[in-house]
Amino acid sequence: MTSSPTTNDWWTSAVVYQVYPRSFADSNADGIGDIRGIIDHLDHLAALGVDALWISPWYPSPMADGGYDVSDYCDINPDFGTLADADALVSQAHALGLRVIIDLVPNHSSQEHPWFKDALAAAPGSMERDRYIFRDGQGDNGEFPPNNWPSVFGGSAWQRVTEPNGTPGQWYLHFFDVSQPDWNWESPDVLEEFDRVLRFWFDRGVDGFRIDVANSMVKESGLPDLPDDAAIGELVGDSPMWDQPGLAPIQRRWRAIADDYADTPQGPRMFVAEAYLPHDRLVRYLEPDRLHTSFNFEFLISAWKASSLRTTITESLAAHESVGASATWVLGNHDNFRPVSRYGKEISGLDFSNPSAPHAQFHGTPTDVARGRLRARAAVMLELALPGGAYIYQGEELGLPEVEDLPDEALHDPTWERSGHTDRGRDGCRVPLPWSGCAAPYGWSANANTWLPMPNNWAEWTVESEQQDSTSFLALYRTLLAERRANPALGAGTMTWNESGDEVLDFSREPGFRCIVNFGGEDVAVDATTVIASSVTLSTHGTTALVGRDQAVWLRA
Ligand code: BGC
Repeated sequence: MTSSPTTNDWWTSAVVYQVYPRSFADSNADGIGDIRGIIDHLDHLAALGVDALWISPWYPSPMADGGYDVSDYCDINPDFGTLADADALVSQAHALGLRVIIDLVPNHSSQEHPWFKDALAAAPGSMERDRYIFRDGQGDNGEFPPNNWPSVFGGSAWQRVTEPNGTPGQWYLHFFDVSQPDWNWESPDVLEEFDRVLRFWFDRGVDGFRIDVANSMVKESGLPDLPDDAAIGELVGDSPMWDQPGLAPIQRRWRAIADDYADTPQGPRMFVAEAYLPHDRLVRYLEPDRLHTSFNFEFLISAWKASSLRTTITESLAAHESVGASATWVLGNHDNFRPVSRYGKEISGLDFSNPSAPHAQFHGTPTDVARGRLRARAAVMLELALPGGAYIYQGEELGLPEVEDLPDEALHDPTWERSGHTDRGRDGCRVPLPWSGCAAPYGWSANANTWLPMPNNWAEWTVESEQQDSTSFLALYRTLLAERRANPALGAGTMTWNESGDEVLDFSREPGFRCIVNFGGEDVAVDATTVIASSVTLSTHGTTALVGRDQAVWLRA
């Protein structure tokens, strides 16, 4: 590593770019993105001005759930490359001053994991079965599932197996796809195996882990039924499926492992939790001896409305402060409708009482893309001005919309099948990134079809095209990120709300920074000589600039 970033606590203010490896860039012309493709385009991320990348799972996997079905936690999917490629990526990213976070999937493995195959081959009650959650079924012949828990992807969370002797047998738990059996976190083997996985990657130089579904893993003992009328929702408070007290000791154990690396040149390693939970529950994970940081999805969930965002921001900051943690802000990721399209919907807020519903609620409703684009530009100005860290999902920097018209036969998300073709799932935000050229596949090889088809009207949104346009999303993102690095008021810290009308968010940060976002019909007048950046070119009269509806501005105060 030539120059390694060393600031401790870097995660408190970092801007992290999410790479979805299958869709980022393809180096070997097979239509699937890969690690060499990421290496070849690290210059795009360095020029963008982010501090770190988070790479969605790159492990060997049958890809039943986009790689969130891991069959070997200590290797690389051959479609993506080799361990040597991963090492090269980490060291080349570090040389550019970029940290690297990878994805840990601890709630479940793939059914192709050797330990699950061992479990299927072993007898009920064996140590091999105890690494997963096997139970006898209910009913005279065990023909009914052990309880009424539903899978996030639709249908029951239980699957019956055929025992090695050919008879119908026990059931195993799978919160997600049937091919993703849940680990049993009461098994010492599982605990020790994940310690080994963490050390394996920390020793190779990765800076941290994103913990997939960090509020699952541990289930209430006895696996009690949900009340008949309960939604599967992760946000609905007490549930035997989610957010159990037994998570705390696991998080403390992992924190101790990350802290063991404090004396290395890179400093201690970090964790970011993925957990769709209300603030008060979420921030318990961020107590000083537990995890470092967490995605705060409240911004993503909020409708494009001043009152809703104001409440979300105020409550988020207070909750994080109560445990001494820094907040983060998220507009999108590989599971959610892209912001440009979401903000162009009549109802832009998400209903997370059912975690599989958010994308379903948007499919098939009209999108005002022009309005969505305007709002998404203002939204990132708000996001990057708030205290704490921020996440950018690949393509947000280009203003890519959701691809809402993928043909049925192109869909990969297991949600599509498991919902009986009622929920089109999350493929629309996972379409490959357009790099260059005027027609699909935009810089991907024409020799192979990209794994998801690319739209024909994306010529304007390629990296190449946006680089040449000073009014593009890319130009805006670069300006904001450069300012964020240079301006001591931005990143971790505090903010103060200024008096403003109900339809305006107006806040200051010290030293000398002010952000205004206008959600309403009445223009907000500002001193044009103090403008640092604006989401669109503001209409200006003498030294007065007007911030219109769905526009934002950063000012020197
Ligand atoms: C990931 C999803 C995945 C699920 C199961 C998540 O929350 O972000 O993409 O389907 O976990 O692993």
